[in-house]
Amino acid sequence: MTTPLVPVPHRVLRRTVETNDSATLELGPVGSPLPAFRPGQFMMLCAPGVGEIPVSLCGDPSRQDGTLTHTIRRVGAVSAALHDAPVGRVIGVRGPFGTGWDLTPAIGGDLLIVAGGVGLAAVRAPVLAVLADRHRYRRVGLVVGARNPAEILYRRDLDVWQDAGIDVVVTIDQPTRDWSGPVGFVTEVLARLEIDPARTRSLVCGPEAMMRYAVRILEGKGMQPWDIEVSLERNMQCGIGVCGHCQLGELLLCRDGPVVDYAIAAPLLHTREL
Ligand SMILES: Cc1cc2nc3c(=O)[nH]c(=O)nc-3n(C[C@H](O)[C@H](O)[C@H](O)COP(=O)(O)OP(=O)(O)OC[C@H]3O[C@@H](n4cnc5c(N)ncnc54)[C@H](O)[C@@H]3O)c2cc1C
Ligand code: FES
Repeated sequence: MTTPLVPVPHRVLRRTVETNDSATLELGPVGSPLPAFRPGQFMMLCAPGVGEIPVSLCGDPSRQDGTLTHTIRRVGAVSAALHDAPVGRVIGVRGPFGTGWDLTPAIGGDLLIVAGGVGLAAVRAPVLAVLADRHRYRRVGLVVGARNPAEILYRRDLDVWQDAGIDVVVTIDQPTRDWSGPVGFVTEVLARLEIDPARTRSLVCGPEAMMRYAVRILEGKGMQPWDIEVSLERNMQCGIGVCGHCQLGELLLCRDGPVVDYAIAAPLLHTREL
C-alpha cells in the first residue's frame, strides 16, 4: 500500500546521455509498481539526502511493467544529483501527479506539437501515444526548438518519428557550422506553417515566453485558445494540492495542471508564483 507523500524506491536500470547537461533515466520499481500514468503527468523524484523535484514522464505510456522514463536537465543541486545517478542507484519516486494532454479532440483531425528545450521531454509520451495509433489522426506535426544542435534531445527518436509519419521540424536559435536545418525560433517556423485552424489541436511545452509567443502565432492563424494546451511549471512540493506552492491564480498546478487549456491559462500567465 503506497501513500502519495511517501517516495517509493526505484532503481536506475539504464542511463542515456542526451546532451552535455541532460540524461534520460529508466527506472524500475524495487517492489510494487506505481499506478499507470497518462502522457503529460509528472512524478516527484527524490534524490536521497539532496531533495525532491517534479519531472515529466517521458516514456511509452502503453508499457505495463512499471518502468518509468525521465529526462533530467542539470540546473541545480537536486536535478544534478538525479542527472548523475548511475545505473543501480535507488531513488525515491511519488506519483503520477497532475493532468495529462487531452488527445481525444485531435482524433480525426490534425495535431501540432510544439516544444522548446527540455519541454520536448513533456511531449515525448503523447508523441509515442499518437504513434501507437497513428491512423486515428490526419496530419501530425512536431516543431522542436533548441539553442544549438548540441542541445537537441532525442536525436535518434526524432528521425524514427519522422519515418513513422510525423512531420518533424527542428530549428536552432543561432546558425552553427554543423547545422544545415532551419535556424530561428520555433515561432518563425510556426509563422511559415500552413494549418487548418478548425481541424487542428495543439500541445505546447517550453519556456513560458516561448509558449506565449507560439500561442500568439497559432491564434493569429485562426486557432482558438481552447484548442491549445500548454504545460506550465511552478515550484512544487507536495504534488497533491495541499501545500499551495504551485499556485497560479485559482489553480494549483500540481493538481489542475501542469497541462492546462490555454483559454484558462492565458489570463493567469502574468501571475507570479508564491
Ligand atoms: C510539472 C513539471 C515538470 C518538469 N519536468 C521536467 C523534466 O522533464 N525535465 C527536467 O529537467 N526538468 C523538469 N522540470 C523542472 C525541474 O523540476 C527543475 O529543473 C528542478 O526543480 C530544479 O531543481 P534544482 O534543485 O535542481 O535546481 P534549483 O536549485 O531549484 O535551481 C537552480 C537554478 O535553475 C533555475 N531553474 C529551476 N527550475 C528551473 C526550470 N524549470 N527551468 C529553468 N530554470 C530553472 C533556478 O532559477 C536556479 O537558477 C519540471 C518542472 C515541473 C513543475
Ligand atoms: S505542490 Fe503542493 S499544492 Fe501543488
